[in-house]
This record gives sequence, structure tokens and C-alpha cells, in this order.
Amino acid sequence: MDHTESRPYHHQPETISDRIALAIVKFMRFFADAFFSGRYGHRAVVLETVAAVPGMVGGALQHLRSLRRMEDDDGWISTLLDEADNERMHLLTFVQIAKPSWFERVIIIIAQGVFYNLFFILYLLSSRIAHRIVGYLEEEAVYSYTEYLAGIDSGKYENVVAPQIAIDYWNLSQDARLRDVVLVVRDDEAKHRDVNHDFANQLQNA
Ligand SMILES: [Fe+2]
Ligand SMILES: [Fe+2]
Repeated sequence: MDHTESRPYHHQPETISDRIALAIVKFMRFFADAFFSGRYGHRAVVLETVAAVPGMVGGALQHLRSLRRMEDDDGWISTLLDEADNERMHLLTFVQIAKPSWFERVIIIIAQGVFYNLFFILYLLSSRIAHRIVGYLEEEAVYSYTEYLAGIDSGKYENVVAPQIAIDYWNLSQDARLRDVVLVVRDDEAKHRDVNHDFANQLQNA
């Protein structure tokens, strides 16, 4: 499998709103680093519960926009809904590897209530900033999964057997391990990164 698309990529901020998007993401990254401090399995579970939200919000709002304006969506709706579903599969995979504590479950519930509503309002105000934020979040996701891989390779995290749900979803071989899963997940994140930066670019140039 070709993992070249997982190369680190950084969209250089061009506008004020790009800088705001990047600052918001760096701020969120700071708290994630402080909270999880290297516990990548738990980090993946909690953050994937958040990562699966924007695609659903964006997909719903693009759907409503298409209805209101009676205009074609250029495939945006299905792309965004697919992204949400793909992120949900990341969650269902990593929850097989790390079981969240009750405290993390509380954080997940509160974070969903806050993030869903904030992202919804943000998307109404500026879908461009919303997609740029997701682009930057996905840059961080690629970076985090690269660190997770390094931890697996150094023996810090055990390279356990891949969960069956992941083997089925990504068509991995039956003897796949955690490392194989992290590689395909990272490819997904790189794809989301490129799609969301591209959507933000299109909205910027519209
Ligand atoms: Fe993800
Ligand atoms: Fe993602």
C-alpha cells in the first residue's frame, strides 16, 4: 500500500482567518498533549469521538444549502458524510485497543455537547474557517498517528493483534497488527486533511 499521501503537509496560513483557524487548532493540541501525555490509545479514542462530528455537521449544512438554493453540491455532501463515517470507524477500532475510563467518558459527553454546537454555529458563520480548522486538525492527527507509530516501533506500545472490525473495514490481512491499523488510519487522516484544505481553498477563491 502506498503511504506517500501521509507525508506531513502544512498549509501555510494565507489570510487572517487561516491564522485564526491555526491558532484554535494549536490551542486544542496543547490541551490534548497535556491531558493525554503520550497515552495514544486513549488519545485516539477520545479525539476520534470529536473528529467524527465536523463531517456530519458540514454534510447536513451543505445538504440544507443545496435544498435552499436548489443548487448542486459538487459531491461535497457525500464526501463529508463519508468522512464522518470513516472517523466513526476509527473510534470503533481504537475502542477495541484502549477502553476509556469513566472520567474520559464524561469528557467525551461534555466535549460532544460543546463541540457539536460550536462547530455548527461556526459552520453557519464561515464554512471556510470551519473547513480550514478541520484541515489543520487533520494535520495534527497525521502528526499524532506518526508519533503513535514511532511508539509502537520503539516498543513503548505493544503491537497487538488488529481488531477484527479494522481487518474487515480496511481489508487487512487476518494477521494484521496495530501498526498496520495505524498506517491506514493515518492515510485516512491525510486524505481528510487534503479534502478539507481544498474545500477551504475553494471557498476562499469563490
Ligand atoms: Fe480519525
Ligand atoms: Fe481525521
